[in-house]
Amino acid sequence: MDFLELARNRYSERSFAQTPLEEEKLYKILEAGRIAPTACNNQPQRFYVLKSKEALAKAAGLTYTYNAAVVILVCYVNAEAWHSPFDGFCSGDMDASIAASSMMFEAENVGIHTIWLRGFDAAKVQDAFDLPSGTVPSLMLALGYPTEKSKPHKLHGQREPMEEFVIEL
Ligand SMILES: Cc1cc2nc3c(=O)[nH]c(=O)nc-3n(C[C@H](O)[C@H](O)[C@H](O)COP(=O)(O)O)c2cc1C
Repeated sequence: MDFLELARNRYSERSFAQTPLEEEKLYKILEAGRIAPTACNNQPQRFYVLKSKEALAKAAGLTYTYNAAVVILVCYVNAEAWHSPFDGFCSGDMDASIAASSMMFEAENVGIHTIWLRGFDAAKVQDAFDLPSGTVPSLMLALGYPTEKSKPHKLHGQREPMEEFVIEL
């Protein structure tokens, strides 16, 4: 499939089936995150795969996960992220987001739906999963197969016209 068609087809899934994800598909999704570009190739991203009932219940207590079959908690190790000598900018969230975007589109490519989640308190997530100090939760990517109730939210269709985004200088 053409990439733009894949990108147009993707929408945030809010009705996941309880069907488990095939290991090969999950591996491909994680591989897309592994090979993503990072600032200075520092590779600070970490993927905590929440698959067990207990881990998924914990995630659902921290943000609304829509009953996803798998949740990937995408973090970055602050000490490994690039810190700009120019202005102190930390690339961690950007590196994590590029990895997560790659995983989101690979998921779509193998027929798995996703939703990006950031409606949580990072300190509580850190605590709940006992993350090492300096490992920062960036987002959760919830994954699974759709149900018969699945459909794009009305916001999915609402995008500003190109002129709003593109400014030629
Ligand atoms: C950074 C970010 C954070 C988000 N956090 C949440 C969230 O916590 N809960 C939720 O239901 N959707 C969340 N979303 C999904 C957005 O609401 C959704 O992408 C947007 O409305 C556009 O819809 P679409 O993805 O179907 O095109 C998030 C998306 C992004 C990119």
